[in-house]
Amino acid sequence: MDLPDFKSLTDQESPIYLQLYWRFRNAIATGKLAPGDRVPSIRSLASELNLARGTVEAAYQILSSEGYLIGRGPAGTIVSPQLDGRIGATTPVGSSVLRRPNQVKASGTRPLQLGLPALDAFPRKTWVRLAGRNLRSMNIGDMVNADSNGYEPLRRAIAAYLAVSRGIACTPDQVFVTAGYRGALELIRRTLFQHGDTGWFEDPGYLHARRFLEDAGMQLVPLPVDDDGLNVEAGLRHAVDARFAVVTPTHQSPSGVALSLPRRLALLEWAQAQRAWIVEDDYDSEFRYDGRPLPPLKSLDHGGRVLYAGTFSKVLYPGLRLAYLVVPEQEIGKFRNSVAQLGSSPVLFQATVADFMEQGHFARHIKKMRSLYAARRTYLVQALAQVFGELLHVPERAGGIHVLGYLKPKYNDKAFAAAANADGLAVMALSEWHIRRRSPIGLLMGFANIATPEQALQQVRRLRKALDG
Ligand SMILES: Cc1ncc(COP(=O)(O)O)c(C=O)c1O
Repeated sequence: MDLPDFKSLTDQESPIYLQLYWRFRNAIATGKLAPGDRVPSIRSLASELNLARGTVEAAYQILSSEGYLIGRGPAGTIVSPQLDGRIGATTPVGSSVLRRPNQVKASGTRPLQLGLPALDAFPRKTWVRLAGRNLRSMNIGDMVNADSNGYEPLRRAIAAYLAVSRGIACTPDQVFVTAGYRGALELIRRTLFQHGDTGWFEDPGYLHARRFLEDAGMQLVPLPVDDDGLNVEAGLRHAVDARFAVVTPTHQSPSGVALSLPRRLALLEWAQAQRAWIVEDDYDSEFRYDGRPLPPLKSLDHGGRVLYAGTFSKVLYPGLRLAYLVVPEQEIGKFRNSVAQLGSSPVLFQATVADFMEQGHFARHIKKMRSLYAARRTYLVQALAQVFGELLHVPERAGGIHVLGYLKPKYNDKAFAAAANADGLAVMALSEWHIRRRSPIGLLMGFANIATPEQALQQVRRLRKALDG
């Protein structure tokens, strides 16, 4: 096999993994690599070119996700036999991760963007196959409105998944499929809350939930968050008769701390005594890198006060707009009545997610992403330490797909974030997430789409420029 020339990876504009990607594409297009040819292993190419294995791995991952390369297990990786050699060497690629910075914006993703999973590692082929199969087998019954509480096989798959992975015992009837987390909040609001109801809210806390609840006429009582999560004692002191509490116990948004067990129990006790509701937003619990997670509130909820919300935005992709809500058994009837007014999410996607879960792809994908994210988080944390040193303090957190770097009070995190945003970096200022408090300040950054240490360094250097002006 005639291998392309990789020795001169010198285009300063693009990260090395993209240059490598293009070399392979050109080699395939010009016939240097033919369908069926075996390509070097990641390890041997990395050592031959003196590159990090992650760099070669990132290029191979993209080539595989676009169908150029196929893994054959122990037999190695080959150029897809289905390629017919008619691929243009300079054809622009569709994948958003491959675009240069000025094009990235148009595709809707930007460097360090929060809330995004690794879009380059999404198993597109499997997804498209499952969606295609569902589409082809569509019958007349599937063409009318679906159950508004969600497609039954998906609700079954969610209940089974929660039992195994989160220790939550619920029936499929308790599960409601919603249009994202906001759909879940809207369903809760319609069913259980009234205009003007008071609720505890983490300060700082999830910006979009806060805006949604305030717009819906809720009176939010901001409660401080410390290293043990939401300060429940402050809630008991200042607003014991609140109707609800909205919390992110596994991985507080945005600080990343976990709500301690004594506080979990105190929160449940309060809800039980006051007949208040707890909205447990478990948005990214799948991604934990150290230690064992504490039990979700829902798994400890013997009084039926917890409304548990999960989302597919982080595990699959946010454009899917699918999330779920687990409601207490005694509330199913009320929720059924109000969900009928909201309508259902498209069955095709619900059925595709159900197949994805039932066939084991979901669990496999989470497992894969856990190790990928652990590596990508390290790329970012190390680059931040190298470029910012003491200026930015990044505490260790057990999970999540974003990093929070604290700044010294003399800085202005909003001005810093604005300068970085102007350069195309999608970081956010921590102070945007505050309600009453003014400190601490810092920057929120997503790391899931950082493919290599080099890319992390490149993005963090741009960030530093924004700080230095
Ligand atoms: C704290 C928090 N909760 C929930 C969600 C999920 O929102 P959705 O399902 O609407 O994408 C997110 C997404 O970024 C989040 O950050």
